[in-house]
Amino acid sequence: MHPTLNIAVKAARKAGSIIFRYHNQINLLTVKNKANNDFVSEVDKIAEDAIINELKTTFPNHSILGEESGEILGDNRFQWIIDPLDGTTNYLHGFPQYAVSIALYENNEATHSVVYDPFKEELFSASKGQGAYLNEHRIRITNTRGFKDTLIGTGFPFKSPQYLDAYLAMFKAIHPQVAGIRRAGSAALDLAYLAAGRMDGFWEIKLNIWDIAAGALLVKEAGGFIGDFSGADKYLETGNVVAGNEAVFKEILTSIRPYLSPDLQQ
Ligand code: IPD
Ligand code: CA
Ligand code: CA
Repeated sequence: MHPTLNIAVKAARKAGSIIFRYHNQINLLTVKNKANNDFVSEVDKIAEDAIINELKTTFPNHSILGEESGEILGDNRFQWIIDPLDGTTNYLHGFPQYAVSIALYENNEATHSVVYDPFKEELFSASKGQGAYLNEHRIRITNTRGFKDTLIGTGFPFKSPQYLDAYLAMFKAIHPQVAGIRRAGSAALDLAYLAAGRMDGFWEIKLNIWDIAAGALLVKEAGGFIGDFSGADKYLETGNVVAGNEAVFKEILTSIRPYLSPDLQQ
């Protein structure tokens, strides 16, 4: 394992053990509503601090973007992007689908990433050009040739209800063509599952950069495709994500195209 990825894994495991420690005491946590339906607990914050401390020990000059801490300025050629707990709503309900997500971007290109599910002890990791792994096993995207018999992941636009009609139209277009659609509640894990061949495709409207930054490298290193709603690579900026094996990626893009309002074109 690349030494930089090793540090990211160490940081993810530290955060994971904090998250796991509190998982059956969630009634004791203070939960705040950051925005409509957007919750945060002190676990999110403690976990993020643990990650930042770990990264700063080895890379004191790197810049960091954390969901809870915002931007920590440093050498901007190296940027860590952190979601300390992706799937907070699941976590706060004891629904065991959540993860720590950490990625390093060097000159705006993803080079190392980790998505760690502390409940199932599943560690998804990738380094650019080195493939993607679940624990110590190599993972690969599925090779289905179209929508038939596929399982597709998605997320509901619960924080941006103005997109609900467009979303439901997309859902209606995709639903009859596939075997199933899942909304599991952690975009980082959705992308990790896609990379691991547990799903064949994924789409979601208006995610945040920290939801996607690590999962995107997993998908690419597993041989998959990821893009924005035009199929181009602006997904980190727009938060609009389509991903899948090559055939399913194209099928999703084709199915959603008729429902893209001007602000969803990319
Ligand atoms: C959320 C999860 C969810 C997605 C939301 C995200 P959070 O992240 O990734 O699957 O649908 O849009 O905000 O808030 O639990 O870190
Ligand atoms: Ca998130
Ligand atoms: Ca989060």
